[in-house]
Formats: sequence, structure tokens, C-alpha cells
Amino acid sequence: MKDAQPRTVYLKDYRQPDYLVDSTRLRFELEPNATLVESQLKVRRNPAAGEGLPPLQLDGVDLELLSVAIDGVPLGEDDYTCHAEGLSIPVHRAEFTLEIRNRIDPEGNTSLEGLYLSNGMYCTQCEAEGFRKITYYPDRPDVMSKFTTTIVAPGDYPILLSNGNEIERGKIDGDRHFVTWEDPFAKPAYLFALVAGQLEKVEDRFTTMSGREVILEIYTEPKNIHKCDHAMRSLKAAMRWDEEVYGREYDLDIFMIVAVDHFNMGAMENKGLNIFNSACVLASPETATDAAFQRIESIVAHEYFHNWSGNRVTCRDWFQLSLKEGFTVFRDAEFSADMNSRAVKRIEDVSMLRTSQFAEDAGPMSHPVRPDSYMEISNFYTLTIYEKGAEVVRMIHTLLGAQAFRRGSDLYFERHDGCAVTCEDFIAAMEDANEVDLKQFRRWYSQAGTPVLEISDDYDADSNRYTLTVRQSCPPSPGQAEKLPFHIPLKMGLLGADGSALALDADGKGETVLEVTEPEQTFTFEGVPEQPLPSLLRGFSAPVKVRYDYSPAQLQLLMRADSDAFNRWDAGQRLAFRALAQLQADFRSGTAMELPPELVDAYRSVLQQDDLDPALVAEMLTLPSAQTLAEEADTIDAEAIIASRKYAEQALAEALYEHLEQAYRRLDHDKPYRPVAADIAQRRLKNVALAYLCVTEREDALALADSQFATATNMTDSAAALAALVNRADEQRAEAALQNFYERWKEDDQVVELWLSLQSSSPKRGTLEAVRALMAHPAFELTNPNRVRSVIGAFANRNFTQFHQPDGSGFRFLAEQVIALDKLNPQIAARLVTPITRWKKYCQGPREQMFAALQSVMASGQLSADLYEVVSKSLK
Ligand code: PHE
Ligand code: ZN
Repeated sequence: MKDAQPRTVYLKDYRQPDYLVDSTRLRFELEPNATLVESQLKVRRNPAAGEGLPPLQLDGVDLELLSVAIDGVPLGEDDYTCHAEGLSIPVHRAEFTLEIRNRIDPEGNTSLEGLYLSNGMYCTQCEAEGFRKITYYPDRPDVMSKFTTTIVAPGDYPILLSNGNEIERGKIDGDRHFVTWEDPFAKPAYLFALVAGQLEKVEDRFTTMSGREVILEIYTEPKNIHKCDHAMRSLKAAMRWDEEVYGREYDLDIFMIVAVDHFNMGAMENKGLNIFNSACVLASPETATDAAFQRIESIVAHEYFHNWSGNRVTCRDWFQLSLKEGFTVFRDAEFSADMNSRAVKRIEDVSMLRTSQFAEDAGPMSHPVRPDSYMEISNFYTLTIYEKGAEVVRMIHTLLGAQAFRRGSDLYFERHDGCAVTCEDFIAAMEDANEVDLKQFRRWYSQAGTPVLEISDDYDADSNRYTLTVRQSCPPSPGQAEKLPFHIPLKMGLLGADGSALALDADGKGETVLEVTEPEQTFTFEGVPEQPLPSLLRGFSAPVKVRYDYSPAQLQLLMRADSDAFNRWDAGQRLAFRALAQLQADFRSGTAMELPPELVDAYRSVLQQDDLDPALVAEMLTLPSAQTLAEEADTIDAEAIIASRKYAEQALAEALYEHLEQAYRRLDHDKPYRPVAADIAQRRLKNVALAYLCVTEREDALALADSQFATATNMTDSAAALAALVNRADEQRAEAALQNFYERWKEDDQVVELWLSLQSSSPKRGTLEAVRALMAHPAFELTNPNRVRSVIGAFANRNFTQFHQPDGSGFRFLAEQVIALDKLNPQIAARLVTPITRWKKYCQGPREQMFAALQSVMASGQLSADLYEVVSKSLK
């Protein structure tokens, strides 16, 4: 924690490092409270950074300095300056060897940054600026060095791991032993990793495209060793995919993954030694849901893909974070699309983007994909950097086409291998490989906010001419009042009255990508034989909002007949959104709510279309979430949103009861479990149907849930049945099911987390009182981020109904927890506070309550830099 206000770092102030570190030798003597770290750095003046020999600046936080020596000569305390953020050492030679010894306290480290203990196992997390909590170092990604690491530990830590290849091991005095690792690839300190513990492993092999054999190992605590198979399968699939789609081969002889229980994020791509949150790597059919299987597949791939997009080619500075994250998310999304249903993957990703990223982009922390400034970089691991960044890369892919994109990525990897580069370098490679001009496109990196496209059209029956007029705008965001026009790929097609595709040109092309670049622009189509219905922004070809005045009948036609599966789903969402908006208006004016018949008709036809992928049917039957409705609203009226959704769900369930029941019964219930797309799709539809049926509270529906709960042989079906029961009025039934579930699974961390979050996110069960009770449960632990997310996070982010109770108790509770957490884990505290930072968008009551809750956080004492940045920016 820092005193006073944390300082702001600006992109425009970037300067090359004064010194480079050619090699880094580290030696760790592990002790829970007093780990000794010895480092030996070969330092050299950076010839490109200017004249003279400025002092060497090293970052260091929470370290106990023991000694400093240069070229073997110990320095006295007057020979350097040691301050709260590091060391400053005068330099007299352009090249020298620096030796430092310091001590750290892994056991006392609850921030989960640097070296810490998780259930008795040592592990590290160095991105973004965690290495400075291990030893004094130029902790910036543009300083790349070859690391050799020796770990010394007592015999009860048999497994000692670091990056690269093992080169030596042996015994030291009595009980202790050591292992030395050498990483042949120069890397920034943020990719360093160390693990030590009593671990078991599963092992496999992979033969790369050039015929090299690579050892693959996944390490866990012994009790979880049976949960590694899916991650191993996913890893091998990802390695093959990256060879086939990007021509990228793995480069070390060994690739290791370690599962740890205490982790701030999903996983980390440390060179050759990925460290994973247990929840993002461990799975078995009995204990993990389909969603968990798919999440694991995509995260394992994501971290593996970083070996090229992030490690071999890394970021020059943290403003370039999306260079590796946006690109890698795009890569993992395409991998998942190839492994599963492409349309469903796209729908899931876009739903998340529209609810959470759009809200971020409209809120107080709104920032461009390449931010201009930050106080604490940990706050910028955001949906904008990751998800919107991936959309920006996807747009390049859409504009250039797959082949040209590949030429661009080949050039990027070849040109910058072993270097720390910028987003600009990425775009330049795309341009240079293809002789295209992406000058205007670059604004996607520098301008924040979600652009809006207002589209109108005109058909002239005499000349068979159809025109589309597109007007683009982008709302102001912090520090950016005016926006320049974006370069937007608008993929579209035209439908005839019968739903068939109309030709867009003389060649009969049925789909095109319009390039919108002007504030207002008109596109003309000749030879259009009838009044067409436009299908706009197919596949969500740009992260924008499209306004076009569709009639309900037109939306129903798109739902039924559009050739683009994403837009069929999206038309359904628009139809539901209109209906829900009307219901909200009725609720506010005290008029009786009534569901428009066209929504019921549309949902009925979806259920009757047997040629559709059941997963797509399931998505199409799902109403926009409360969070989505909130994001779309100008002013959020939580009560009206809750009432409208509840009413619509009930009315649909009653009106379509028989159809839903048929759908439920038609699907296979006793297949042996396999986490493959076709089976996942069946379970998804079955469980969406079950949830609707149970909304009616009818006894026969609840009996179906009871029986599914009792007989399920996989966690997807079991958890879905439990959720259906838990969300119902019948207290006893819910309580019995919860008890039964807990007794069965209380030894399994991942299932216990599911059990916690199911309750906290339930509009019925997850009242504030119930959440407080869960926090007193032995399964809860404030120092474990997964537990915090399962209880407090689920309540604040996924329980719209209970969190937004009109008395404001939910907001006050969140503020209280954030204050407590900030003392333990600032990163988690700063993330958790998000829901109340959006106070400006709410109607008066909650607006004032949220604001007061935020103020109470600010007034609570010295905040971490992480929390201070988020809260101070939100109070403005
Ligand atoms: N770089 C990690 C990823 O996206 C995320 C991460 C960031 C993990 C910071 C830990 C700390 O793959
Ligand atoms: Zn990543």
C-alpha cells in the first residue's frame, strides 16, 4: 500500500529502458515466512537509450534488502538509495554484474502477487508488476532476459518447478534438495514462474509439426489428479490447431501446467510453466458442468496460444496489453468455434460483450483498447482490453479475409520474434503483408465508447434500387468528448418477403461487407427485385449498436429464415427486448402487464423447428438478461426490469408449457457423459426447458426436477435440476436438495463453489441474510478469490433482484466487503466494487444509495492504489 495518492502513468511518457539485463540468475531458499532470494544480473547500458550513465533504477515492493554488490564488490548503504518503490544505484561502467540478496514473506502475502503460498504450495504470479515483490529488478516488459533459476527446499516439497528445461538437481545439507531450471528464451520478468509443493502429475507427449517430441505435464494436489484429462486433451488439440491455423510450433522440450486454488484471475501464460486457477483446469464428468468443460478448453488454449502471441512476441509496455490479450482471445475464440458450435460460441461471446463490455465502455472506467493512462495496471485487465480487443482483431480478419490475415500474422511473428512491441506494430504488419491501408481503422485502438449505427433504408420499386443510409456516432467517454468516425465492417444481406436471400449484385452474391467510414454514408444496391428486408451486422461483424426500426413481423421473418444463425438469434433478442420494454412501461404506469402474442408465437415456432441445433434453440428461448436490459436502458429502473422479466418468463412458461415439456422429454436423458458439442447442445435445451417448466411452480414440473436431480449422472444435469429447485417457492424442497448436494460434494472444492454461487445468485435464496450466512459457512474464505467470487461476486453481479433491493442494503453490504478485502487483496477488492461504480445510470433512489456506499469506501481509510483508482474515478 502506498501513502497519499497513487501517481498516474502516461503512454506519452514512454521511454526506452536505460539498462538491459542480458541474463538473470536466481536462487531461492524457500521458507514460509523468510524466503531468501539471491539474484545475479548481467547488466548493460542500452545503446539506444542515450548518452552517459544514469543511475540504475530497480523496482521493488515489500522486500527486505540484505545486500547489494557490483562486480563482486559489496556496496555500503550510502552507495545506493532504497525507497518505498525500489532501489536507485549509481553506475560507473557500461557493463557490470549486479548481485542482490533479499528476503520475502510468502506466507504473509495475501495479495496473490509475487511469491505466495496456496494450501501449502509455493507459487508465483508476476504479471503485470508482481516480480518486484520477489526481488529488485527492472520490472517492465521491454527488459527481456535469459533466466536460470535454482530452487532450494526441504524434502517435503518434492516438486520444484520453474521456466524452461531442468538442467541440474541434487541434495544439499541433510534434508534439503535443489533443482535448477534454464529458460533458453529471453523473456520479461512478468513471465517468470516458480512452483514448489507436494504435487502429482499426469503426463503425455505431443509430436510437433517438425517432428519434435514435447513432454506435457499437468500438476495438481494428489486429491485432484483424476481431474486433469480434459485439460490434457484440450492442450493437445490447441497445440495442433495453432500449427494448422497459424503455423506456430511449440519451442521447448517440456510444457507444464499447475493448478492452484488461490488465484486472482483465470490462468497465467508463464513461459513453459502455465499456472491455472483450479477452477479453470480441473474437471471430471461427475463434478464439472458443460460450461466448465468449455471454459477449461478455451483457457488452456488461450494460455498455450500466448506462447507466441505474448511470449515470443511480447508487449513493449502495459498500454499495449491488448496486443497480446485481444489477439489471444480472438485466437482462442476461433479455436473454440472450430471445436464446438460456431454460432453458439459467437452468441455467448457477444452476449457477454453487450452486457458487460458495453456497460464498462459507458461507465466511469471507460478506456480505449490501448489506454492513454492508468494508476494501477491491474485495473486494466478488462473486458475492453480482452473482449473488445478481440473484436478489433476480428474486424481486421473480416476486412482482410482469412488468407490475408494469415499473411499479416506470419509477418508479425517473423518480424518481431524475440521483441517487445506495440499495437501499432501489429497493424503495420497486417498492412505491409497485404498492401492495405488501416489508417482510419487505428481509431479503434485510441477511442473509447461503443459506436452507434443508425440505419435507415429506401426502396424504389420503379428503378429496383435499394439504398441503405448509415449514420455513425459515438458517445463521449472520460477525457474524450468528441470522436472521429470509425472504420466499421458491416456484414449484411437482404431477404425477400418469403425469407429467401436476394442477390446483392449482378454476380448473385448474397452477402457483403460494407465499409462504413463516414459520419453518414449511403450504400446503393441495383436490381433488387422486391422490397427487401435487411439482415444487418451479421455475425456481429463490429462491436457497435445497430438501430434499425424493424417491425415485429420482420423480426419473426429474420428469426425463421436468415441464413446467418447469429442474426436469427439476435432478431429474437430484439423481439423480446421490445416486449420487455413495453412490460416495463406498463409496470411503471401501473397498467396490467400482458405479453405480446408475437413473442409467444415466435418462441413456439422456435420450439417446433426441428432442423435447428438444439443449442441454438436454447439460446433463442432465453430472454435477454436483467443486466442486458439495464445496459440498454437510458436510466436503470431495477424494479421495472425485474418485474418485466419475471412476468415474461412466467407468461411464456404457461403459454408454452406443453411444447416445453415435449422438448424436455424428447431429449436423451441417459447417454453416457461426453463433453462434445452435440451432447452439450441437447443438455442445454433440456435444462432451459426444465427451468421454464419449473417457473410455473406446477407439481409435475417440480417432480421432473426432483427426478432429474436424483438420477443425474453428470454435473450439468444435476446442477440445472438443483438450480430449478432452489429458485422455487417450496422452501423445504429447496433446502433438502441443497443439503443433499452439499453432503455429497463437500470434499470437492469446485463443486462447493458451484453450490455457493447457485445460492448467492438465486433471486429466491440469495437474500442478503442468506449471503451473510454463507459467509459464515466453513466453506467460505475471504482470502480465497474463488470463494469470494462464488458468494459476494455472484450476489452483486448475478443476482439482480436481491442485490437491487430498494432499501439499498445490497450496495452497503458490497461496500463493507470491499473495504475488508482491500486490506487482503487489492486486485479483488477493486474488481468487486464495479457494480456500484455505475451509479450514474440508475434512477434516483439507488443512484443516491450507490453513491453513498462508494463514498463510504473512499472515507474508510488509506485505500490500495487499485481500489483508489476505481473509486476516485467513479465518484467524479
Ligand atoms: N495474462 C493472463 C491471461 O490472460 C491473465 C492474468 C493477468 C493472470 C494478470 C494473472 C495476472 O492469460
Ligand atoms: Zn491472456
